[in-house]
Amino acid sequence: MSNKEFHTVRGYEIMDKKKEALSHSMEDYMEMIYRNAIENGYIRINALAEALNVKAPSASKMVQKLGRQGLLRYEKYGLVTLTQEGRSVGKFLLDRHYTIEKFLSTIGVKENLLMNVELIEHNVTNNALEKIETLNRFFVDKPEILRQFDDFRTSLDNRNRNAD
Ligand code: CO
Repeated sequence: MSNKEFHTVRGYEIMDKKKEALSHSMEDYMEMIYRNAIENGYIRINALAEALNVKAPSASKMVQKLGRQGLLRYEKYGLVTLTQEGRSVGKFLLDRHYTIEKFLSTIGVKENLLMNVELIEHNVTNNALEKIETLNRFFVDKPEILRQFDDFRTSLDNRNRNAD
């Protein structure tokens, strides 16, 4: 089993337990903290607030909440670092984001792609997500089928456009 698969399975397991406890907004925080933690190992509370477009006091309140769940440590000078469990959760959430984004762009969503990802990612069940992941992999494995699908979609789009 590759490392990536191991982490994915572990992420699913943890998320099955954590899902109830995490609001959409907490998921956004964890995803953003993880994005930064993979680059720097930490994020500062001010940078986090800015990245999420919220005020610093709300960010620090939320960070404390996530800290009580054992997902991160809020240290001196506003430094936020993830615990091991927090890293698994963050990785799951970021992977989920990319899985949905890849799926939507594969089926031809171009307009408001990120807004569509945001709407779906917080509501998709783990079971459906796994199936979407399988479909993504299928298209990577069979690029000729993806090309056929693209052609099919383009010709349907053109037909619909001409019918208007
Ligand atoms: Co996201």
